[in-house]
Amino acid sequence: MTAELIDGNALSQKLRQDVAARAAALRARGTTPGLAVVLVGDNPASQVYVRNKVKACENSGLHSVLEKYDADLSEAALLARVDALNHDPAIHGILVQLPLPAHIDAQKVIEAISPAKDVDGFHIASAGALMTGAPGFWPCTPYGCMKMLESIGYDLRGKHAVVIGRSNIVGKPMALMLLQKNATVTICHSGTKDLKAMTLQADVIVAAVGKRNVLTADMVKPGAVVLDVGMNRDDAGKLCGDVDFDGVKAVASHLTPVPGGVGPMTITMLLVNTMEAAERSAS
Ligand code: GUN
Repeated sequence: MTAELIDGNALSQKLRQDVAARAAALRARGTTPGLAVVLVGDNPASQVYVRNKVKACENSGLHSVLEKYDADLSEAALLARVDALNHDPAIHGILVQLPLPAHIDAQKVIEAISPAKDVDGFHIASAGALMTGAPGFWPCTPYGCMKMLESIGYDLRGKHAVVIGRSNIVGKPMALMLLQKNATVTICHSGTKDLKAMTLQADVIVAAVGKRNVLTADMVKPGAVVLDVGMNRDDAGKLCGDVDFDGVKAVASHLTPVPGGVGPMTITMLLVNTMEAAERSAS
C-alpha cells in the first residue's frame, strides 16, 4: 500500500477562501474581523510564526495588528495590554505568542484573555468548553487535524484513535475532539510502557511529541490513517515530523506530510476561529 497524502496546503487554500467570503460578507455589514497578535521578545521562530499569521490575515481580508515588545516588558504591562485588547471593539481575536520570557507567567496572561476572544483556545474556559461539548474555541492544531480527517470523509465512530503526546495545546485537546466524534481514544506519552502495542491497534494515529521517528512502519496497522503534528529537523537540517515518513507511507492508507500537512492548517484554523469570534460579536 502507498498512503494517499493529505495535502494541508490545498485544504488550507479551500478553507481560507471560505473565510475570505465570510469576512467580505461581515465587512458588508460594517464589521471587519480583527486579530491582535502580541509578541514579546525576539525568539526567531516566534517572529516567523507571527509574520505568517499576520500575512494570512491580510490575504483573507481580516484586519490584524502586530504588537511587538522588548523581552524585558513587565508582566503587569503585558496584562494591561491584554485588558485593553479585550475592550477594543475592532479586535475579535487575541493571540499572545508563546513562549513568553521566563519572568512572565504565561498561564496568567492566557487567563487574562477574554474567552470570547481566545482564538488560540488556550484559556481554561475554552478547555472546559471542549471537555463538555459547550460552544468555545478549539485549539488550532488539533482542530486542523479534525478538518483533515473530515476532508477524507473519515467516520471516527467506533474507530480506535491513538494520540501520542499529552500537551495542553495538542495531545489532550486532540483526544477530546476525537472522543466527541465517537472514537475510542488512547493517549500515549513518555510513561507508556509499550507504545508499539498501542499504535498497532489504532485505526487513526496522531503523533504529537516533537521528536523524530517516534512512529515507524512496524508500529502501524496496514491501512491506518496517520497525522503527523511534529516539526523537527533531521541531521541534514531538513524539516521533518515525528513520523518516519517513507516507512509509514508504505503501510498507512493516509498520511500527512511535513512540511505541507498539519502546519498550514494551524494558521488556517486561527483564521476560522477569528472569523467565528467576529461573527459572534456582530450577531
Ligand atoms: N507558539 C507556538 N505555537 C503557538 C500557537 O499556536 N499559539 C501561540 N499563542 N503560541 C504558539
